[in-house]
Amino acid sequence: MASKLSDRGKRHDTFFKRAKKQGFVARSVFKLEEIDRRFHLFRKGARVLDLGCRPGSWLQYAQKIAGDTAELVGVDRMPLDLVVPRCRMVVGDVFELAPAQLLGELTAFDVVLSDMAPDTSGVRSADQARSEALLERALFIAESTLMPGGHFVGKLFQGPDFQRLIKHARAEFSEVRTLKPESSRKESIEQYLVALGRKRGAK
Ligand SMILES: C[S@@+](CC[C@H](N)C(=O)[O-])C[C@H]1O[C@@H](n2cnc3c(N)ncnc32)[C@H](O)[C@@H]1O
Repeated sequence: MASKLSDRGKRHDTFFKRAKKQGFVARSVFKLEEIDRRFHLFRKGARVLDLGCRPGSWLQYAQKIAGDTAELVGVDRMPLDLVVPRCRMVVGDVFELAPAQLLGELTAFDVVLSDMAPDTSGVRSADQARSEALLERALFIAESTLMPGGHFVGKLFQGPDFQRLIKHARAEFSEVRTLKPESSRKESIEQYLVALGRKRGAK
């Protein structure tokens, strides 16, 4: 007998189907789309670094908005299964990759994204700590590679270090917001930190 889908399952299924229909490989594309609708992250030809990019829907979205002259770099512990035009893929752990390796031939990025999530253990405090360490690393990479005026978006499971990380971002960027996109599961503790306008000469 077919089991009834829960509300959560139905919602998940709707976003998933919508993503597939539009040609995106993951439902998480709608989180970036919502953030971009509010903050206009990508100009045409933007140089974009996407940390934790697999399976690739954020890269697909950045490609679509930034256009044919966009320059994309995707990073993940596992390679992508799809080909994204004008994207260089770096396979590795962000804790072991130097910012210069990610830049390659580029002088700077216009936008740095991080949708990285830890492998969850089910122990909330441990998962929060890992997520905060990932965001801190992503912020370090962003601060080392973004051009003045550049933007950063990073996922974070809200935990004890949340305020400290926001305070840190405020010192480095002109405007800092946090938000939970509509398409994020209600029960998820994930938030996105949106940091706009990298300050010239910060740090
Ligand atoms: C939620 S998925 C990203 C989904 C992606 N934004 C999309 O829309 O297709 C998170 C990714 O972060 C990657 N990740 C987690 N920790 C990482 C690390 N230390 N270094 C590199 N990638 C990492 C995982 O391998 C996983 O593929």
